[in-house]
Amino acid sequence: MKIPSAIERVLLSEETIAARVRDLAAQISADYADADHLVLVGVLKGAFIFMADLARQLTVVHHVDFIALSSYNRGAVTTGAVRLIMDTRVNVTGRHVLIVEDIVDTGYTLEYLLRTFHARHPASLRACALLSKPERRQTEVLVDYLGFEIPDVWVVGYGLDYADRFRTLPYIGALKREAYEGDKK
Ligand code: PRP
Repeated sequence: MKIPSAIERVLLSEETIAARVRDLAAQISADYADADHLVLVGVLKGAFIFMADLARQLTVVHHVDFIALSSYNRGAVTTGAVRLIMDTRVNVTGRHVLIVEDIVDTGYTLEYLLRTFHARHPASLRACALLSKPERRQTEVLVDYLGFEIPDVWVVGYGLDYADRFRTLPYIGALKREAYEGDKK
């Protein structure tokens, strides 16, 4: 497959991602083996591909649901404020909630999600993220199931975008700096 010219390098190949998703699914399936009412809450849009692959590997009964958020970004700079655009359909009270994110960057989004779901009194609440950029963290959040730690580079593919492009690349690639630098304010 031809790699778009805006991509500097492939950070995580399709095979590497698939192997890690299998491991995460096995771990989650073991941990929730005795849990009734597991609900996966995928965070749109970025998590849609990870969520689909992860959910199909789980061997425990679960429901899938989604939530959509918007962060108040100014170009490449996040301001930390998060807005709820679409809520889950299911009532999570008394259910085991597993938030599924593509990436934890500053941590503000996951912090908001954990606070929001905690207030709804789930039976348990954990977070799963495919990627984390520890260097970018502004607030301490616990990621119970993490795929990969990555350096502070702009990544796209496997659900992640730049201006809504590149989401459906099968791998995770680092964007060339010149492709997004003009957006930094
Ligand atoms: C991304 C990502 C996380 C959030 C993480 O979403 O999917 O939800 O940012 O960043 P944070 O840790 O700094 O809060 P984005 O706002 O790009 O929306 P999208 O998933 O619809 O592309």
